Amino acid sequence: MKRWICPLMALALWGCSAPEGLTEVSIGEPYAAKVDSVLRLMTLDEKIGQLNQYTGNFQATGPVVDDTTKIDQIKRGMVGSMLNIKGVANTRELQEYAMQSRLKIPLLFGLDVIHGMRTIYPIPLGEAASFDLDLMRRTAAGAAREAAAQGVHWTFAPMMDVSRDARWGRVMEGSGEDTWYGSLVAQARVKGFQGDDLADVETVMACAKHFAAYGACIAGKDYNAVDISDLTLHEVYLPPFKAAVDAGVASFMNSFNEINGIPSTGNRHIQRDLLKGAWGFNGLTVSDWGSIGEMIAHGFVPDLKGAAEAAILAGCDMDMESRAYVSNLKALVEEGKVPERYIDDAVRRVLLKKFQLGLFDDPFRYCDLEREARTVLCDSLRALSREAGRKSIVLLKNENNALPLAGFRGRIALIGSLAASKIDMRGFWANEGVIDEMVTVREGFERRFGARSVIYADGYDLETNELKLPEAMRAAAQADVVVVAVGERYFNSGEAKSRADINIPATHQQLVRELKRSGKRVIVLLMGGRPMIFNEMAPAADAILLTWWLGTEAGNAIADVVAGDYNPSGKLPMTFPAHVGQIPIYYNYKSTGRPESKDRGYSCCYQDIDFEPAYPFGYGLSYTTFEIGEPVLAKQTWKRGEDVEVTVRVKNTGRYAGRETVQLYVRDLVASVTRPVKELRGFRQVYLEPGEETEVRFTLGDAELGFHNAALEYVVEPGTFRVMVGPDSKRVKSAEFELL
Ligand code: NOJ
Repeated sequence: MKRWICPLMALALWGCSAPEGLTEVSIGEPYAAKVDSVLRLMTLDEKIGQLNQYTGNFQATGPVVDDTTKIDQIKRGMVGSMLNIKGVANTRELQEYAMQSRLKIPLLFGLDVIHGMRTIYPIPLGEAASFDLDLMRRTAAGAAREAAAQGVHWTFAPMMDVSRDARWGRVMEGSGEDTWYGSLVAQARVKGFQGDDLADVETVMACAKHFAAYGACIAGKDYNAVDISDLTLHEVYLPPFKAAVDAGVASFMNSFNEINGIPSTGNRHIQRDLLKGAWGFNGLTVSDWGSIGEMIAHGFVPDLKGAAEAAILAGCDMDMESRAYVSNLKALVEEGKVPERYIDDAVRRVLLKKFQLGLFDDPFRYCDLEREARTVLCDSLRALSREAGRKSIVLLKNENNALPLAGFRGRIALIGSLAASKIDMRGFWANEGVIDEMVTVREGFERRFGARSVIYADGYDLETNELKLPEAMRAAAQADVVVVAVGERYFNSGEAKSRADINIPATHQQLVRELKRSGKRVIVLLMGGRPMIFNEMAPAADAILLTWWLGTEAGNAIADVVAGDYNPSGKLPMTFPAHVGQIPIYYNYKSTGRPESKDRGYSCCYQDIDFEPAYPFGYGLSYTTFEIGEPVLAKQTWKRGEDVEVTVRVKNTGRYAGRETVQLYVRDLVASVTRPVKELRGFRQVYLEPGEETEVRFTLGDAELGFHNAALEYVVEPGTFRVMVGPDSKRVKSAEFELL
C-alpha cells in the first residue's frame, strides 16, 4: 500500500505542451498596480529592452561582443540589466544614462559574487565542509553587504548543482554531492544574500543556478550533455532548486547543458511547467552567458531568431549576452510567432524585482560612496572570513597526534610555494578580492609562531611544479617539524576547468615522501578546489589538513588550526576517490543484485582497484576523539504522521575540547523503487569539553522518509527503515524500525 503525500506533478515532463502554456506571474499588492502602471506605458521596443542584459568589461565568462553603442542603447531604454559592473562610481555613471531614457527605468546590476566581494570567504565547496548552515548564511550576508555597498543589486549565486563527479571543475562552486544537505545549504545562502527584505540596501537578489542538472554532465566535462532519468532528476538534481524557491529566491539561471535532448534554456518543461507552473516561482529567469545563442551549436535551432523564439517561449525572461532578444523578439511578435503576453510576463518579472529593490523610488540607493568606503574589508567581515576558514578545514589524518602544535617552541620548516602564494589563497572566481590583501600561510605562521621560528623554502616551482629539493631538505634538517603545502593551483578548479586526472602533481607527492626521510614529523596542508587523489604521498604524511582555498584570512585560519587554537571540525561534502576510475563515486549509491565484496568474485567490484574511496562523504577527524553511541528509537513501531524520534549519546573521549558533527542516515529497506544504501537525513553539531557527554536528538518525518516513486509522486511507504548514526557515512551504528 502506498502513502501519497502530495500528488506532486503528474507532469509528462518530456512530452510537448502548447505554446499557450503560460503561467503568468502572480504579483501581489502593493506591487501589482505599480508594475502594470509602468508596463502600460511601454512600447514593444522598451519591453524587449528590459529583457536585455549586457556585460561590462570586467570578468567576462564568454565571448564579449565589441559594441560601442551600449551607452546609447541604455539611453534609449534598450538595456534592462548589466553584469560585471561594480563600484559606486561605475554603477552611478551607468544609472545616470538609464535616467536619460524616456521612461527612466533603472538598470539592474548583476555580478558573480560567489564567495565574497572584497572580503573573500572559503570557496563554497570548502565552506560546505563546515556543515555550519548559520555560518554559510552569515558569509552570504557579508558578501551581500559588500556587494550592495559597491553598487551591485544581484548576485549570480548560489550554485546548487549537485555533483558526483570530481572531474567537473565547477564542484568548487557548490556544496558537494548530497542533495538533502545541498538543499539546506542552498536555503541558507539564499537567505544570507537576500535577508528578509530585498528593499534592505544591505542585501542583494540571489540566483539559483544552474537550472538544471548541470552537475550531471557526462564524464565531468563542462557544458556537456546530460542524459538522465526523470527519477534521478527529481530525486537528486532538482530538490535544491525547489528548496531555493521555498526560501524565496529572487531569480534562476539556466544551465548550459541539454537535458535529454532539450537545452535547458529552451526547455519549456523545466522552466514553464515545473518552475513557474508547479513550483509557482514568481521571480525572473536569466539565461547563462550566451546560452540562448548556444542553442544553435547544440543543433536545436537554426539561427539566433529561432533561439530567441525557443527561449522566450520556454520561459527564459532575460537574455544574458546572446543579443538574441534585442535583435529578434520584435519581429517574432510581429510575425505572430511569439504572443506579446509572453513578453509582458517576462517584463513584469523584471519590473517587480526593480520595484522590490526600491530602485524606482531611488535608482541611486546602492550608490553611496561613503557606505562603500566603510563597508568593504571592514574588521567584522575579515573576522567572519577567519571563522569560516577555520571551520572549513578538514583533518584527514593525524597519526600519533602529530597535530596540533600547541605550545610548540621549536622551529618549523614551512615548505611549498603554495604556502607563500597570495593569489592561490583567493581561490577561483574571487571578484574584488585584492591579491595583496590575502594572508598567506607563511604570513599566518610567522605571525602565530614568530618569524624566527619559521624557515621557509619553495620546495617546487609554483608555475612548473619542478622540484627544488636541496633547499627543502636543508630547511627540514634545521627544523623540528615540517609543514608542507601541496595540491592544485587556484585555477585548476572552476568553470571550464574540468580535469581527467585529479591526482595532485607527482612532484608534490615526491616532495612529501622525500621530506619524510628527514625523520621529522611531516604535516601536509592539502590545497585545492575539488576532491583530489594523493595516494603516493598519504602514507608519508603524519598529518593531513585539507585547507581548500580559504580566502582573505587563509593563512591565519590555517595557523589557528595547526597551532590548536581551533580544533578542526570540517567534514567532507564530497567523497574523495582512491582512483580516477572510480568516478562517479558517491556514498548514496544503489545496491546491486551482486553487491561489492572484498573477494570480488561475481560482484560489482573492479578487478584491478578497490571499491572503497580514499575518504568517504562526511569524513573528518578532530584533535580529540568522540564516542558516538548506538541510535536509540523511542519505540520500535511508528505510525505514519508521527515524528520518529532517534536519540544518540556522544562523548568527548579525548584531551581537547572540540566540535563533532553527528550524522544520521536512513535507508528504506524495501520500496516500490529501489532506494540508496543510505541517505543523509540529519546532522547535529555538538561542542564538548574533554570527558563531557551529551545526547542528541533527531526527528524523522515525511520529509526525511519519503521519495519520488515511479510516477514522480512524493510518497512515504510503510515498511522497515534502517537508521544509521556516526561521525561520517562509513563508520555508522544502526537500528531498525517499522513504519505502519
Ligand atoms: C557563466 C557561468 O556559467 C555562470 O555561472 C555565470 O553566472 C555567468 N557566466 C555570468 O558570469
